[in-house]
Amino acid sequence: MKKKGFIFDLDGVIVDTAKYHYRAWKKLADQLGFKFTHKHNELLKGVSRKRSLEILLAIGKISASDEQKEYWMHSKNQEYLKYIRKMTAEEILPDVPKVLNFLNSNNQPIALGSASKNAEEILTRVGLLKDFKTLVDGTHVSKAKPDPEVFLKGAALLGIKPQNCVVFEDASAGIEAAKAAGMTAIGIGKSSNLPGADYVFSDFTEISTDFIAQL
Ligand code: BG6
Ligand code: MG
Repeated sequence: MKKKGFIFDLDGVIVDTAKYHYRAWKKLADQLGFKFTHKHNELLKGVSRKRSLEILLAIGKISASDEQKEYWMHSKNQEYLKYIRKMTAEEILPDVPKVLNFLNSNNQPIALGSASKNAEEILTRVGLLKDFKTLVDGTHVSKAKPDPEVFLKGAALLGIKPQNCVVFEDASAGIEAAKAAGMTAIGIGKSSNLPGADYVFSDFTEISTDFIAQL
């Protein structure tokens, strides 16, 4: 198998943390006195913590100072961490280990490319940190997806040219970022939500090792 770089998004690709983000943001919305629904939560997928708060406050029609926003982001994250710290390997999405093991046993380098500042904590909790050669997360980038920065940094750290990298993403902004980086973009989810992806699969159970080998 020809050497390529493989870059994985975290939330929605490796683990389903959207439900924990939802509970933590909902707690804040409850405190602020407005309704925050699962449908609203969809708008936060793939979006940075800061942008998520802005979307949430727009839903509640609330304006606030930067200092107040910092405080809310901090308290939301403290709540989110309560859920994250209870995560185990059982929460890894189906057949993700199959793909990671296949890549590692074929000496294909793997990076994480995530907007989350909790990425290392989550990978540690679920026992997958060792599978990644490098992590690029929300603590390392200044421009959020759909900007390609996170994936370009991942490729540079892997020492692989962007055009030889393959990205797995569940968010439309992530697919856009991968394409802007000149990479092959594999969408995980519904094709109607992931325009521009080179391939779309509903999850990793649909991705064979033969398919990966021929990329
Ligand atoms: C993304 C999630 O991966 O990370 C978003 O899809 C989340 O929903 C973002 O807002 C930032 O995460 P964190 O863990 O830094 O708050
Ligand atoms: Mg995601």
